[in-house]
Amino acid sequence: MSSILVLHGPNLNMLGLREPGIYGTFTIEDVNRKIESLAKQLGISLSVFQSNHEGVIVDAIHEAFDRHAGILINAGAYSHTIVAIRDAILAVGIPAVEVHISNVYKRDKFRHHSYLADIVVGQISGFGIESYTLGLRVLASHIGKAL
Ligand code: DQA
Repeated sequence: MSSILVLHGPNLNMLGLREPGIYGTFTIEDVNRKIESLAKQLGISLSVFQSNHEGVIVDAIHEAFDRHAGILINAGAYSHTIVAIRDAILAVGIPAVEVHISNVYKRDKFRHHSYLADIVVGQISGFGIESYTLGLRVLASHIGKAL
């Protein structure tokens, strides 16, 4: 069975409490439940991980080598600030899809640049909790699982 690593970056553990006008009131557990249920339908197994620490996220990407067929990542603010996560994805050579809950292009200018955007299969931004389900579907399709 294909396996996908889902990585939630910094501050995403605060979903539900965090700026609900931007991120909604759903929690990270709600996100995980929703994608777990979709993964079951798609015949994919998920490993889900959240960290607020750059190096821990880099380690998790390294550990995905030879274990996971794809990476679904919301790197949060690190998307806009950190080269090391980009380099880690390039190092393992695993296809990745970048997701954002909010539409980062409608927000502060510094959120318009992502260090991941040009090395991932694609980016999904602005669909709330559905950014994750859309991201999982396209990643599954990319790695050869039916939609
Ligand atoms: C985010 C957007 C980022 O700009 C922000 O720093 C986040 C969440 C999103 O999912 O919309 O932490 O990645």
